[in-house]
Amino acid sequence: MNLEELKKNYPNIDLAELNELFPRIAMTDYPELSEYSWEACHHGSLGGGALFLASEMARKMDLEAGMRVLDLGCGHGASSIFLARHYGVTVVAADNGVSPSANWQGFQGEGLNDKVIPVKMDARNIVFPERYFDAVFSMNAYLYFGTDDLYLSYLTRFIRNSGRICIAGPCYAEELRPDTPKELLEGESFAYHSPSWWCNHFAKTDLVRVLHCQDHPKGREFWLDMIRWIIEDTQNRGEAYPDFLWHDMVMLLSDQERFVTYFLLLAEKKSS
Ligand SMILES: C[S@@+](CC[C@H](N)C(=O)[O-])C[C@H]1O[C@@H](n2cnc3c(N)ncnc32)[C@H](O)[C@@H]1O
Repeated sequence: MNLEELKKNYPNIDLAELNELFPRIAMTDYPELSEYSWEACHHGSLGGGALFLASEMARKMDLEAGMRVLDLGCGHGASSIFLARHYGVTVVAADNGVSPSANWQGFQGEGLNDKVIPVKMDARNIVFPERYFDAVFSMNAYLYFGTDDLYLSYLTRFIRNSGRICIAGPCYAEELRPDTPKELLEGESFAYHSPSWWCNHFAKTDLVRVLHCQDHPKGREFWLDMIRWIIEDTQNRGEAYPDFLWHDMVMLLSDQERFVTYFLLLAEKKSS
């Protein structure tokens, strides 16, 4: 099925036909997720990458049991649960838009009462002591508050020396230009930045050492996998596809150059 057929047939698109266009990500690359099904890896996730991207971020963070980790913009806290369970860290699951009471029920259900602490908190108004956290993790969220040039100098106040920050999220391979084809744009895409923009955004502050920053090799695959999840989930619930899904399908099928992708950045706080 090509893009024109997809448009013509929408919304009556057969799941079998979509399988080829939007494959699931291969679970074999994620031994730390062996206790999860593919569906469970997506459950509660509010963006692409789901626990696959979360586990890749965590691998880079040198986490040790007992560390205090801030999951900034945690959404429903799926990543917070994974980090606490797999690495034995204590996670502050912070979000300003998702109810901490609902998240708390989920954390209790996982038996993580004293390991994941839900808080309603704006990333720009951190209520914890300075140097409190060993690490900060932020997936699919940092673009909402962290593009301000002054934000990193604020955030690093709450991290101990040599503590790590790992952020990841959707991006374009290069900065948007006025002539970027319209079908590659979406509602929030003006807020996306290229991996090299992110690298410079962190490095120029001289507050951190950027240890890793790149267009994720599986960036396109994370998008395809997220679309596949939403297709299956909405079909299983007998609901219509949300409008943004139709848009994302067109965007991915139009993208012949792997322009639509994900970035992952890892940095370490310099001593201060
Ligand atoms: C796309 S969701 C990602 C959630 C989760 N990390 C995930 O990947 O499933 C972005 C989250 O960032 C949160 N967020 C946006 N701006 C925020 C801010 N200023 N402070 C705290 N959280 C924020 C939103 O409420 C939302 O839950």
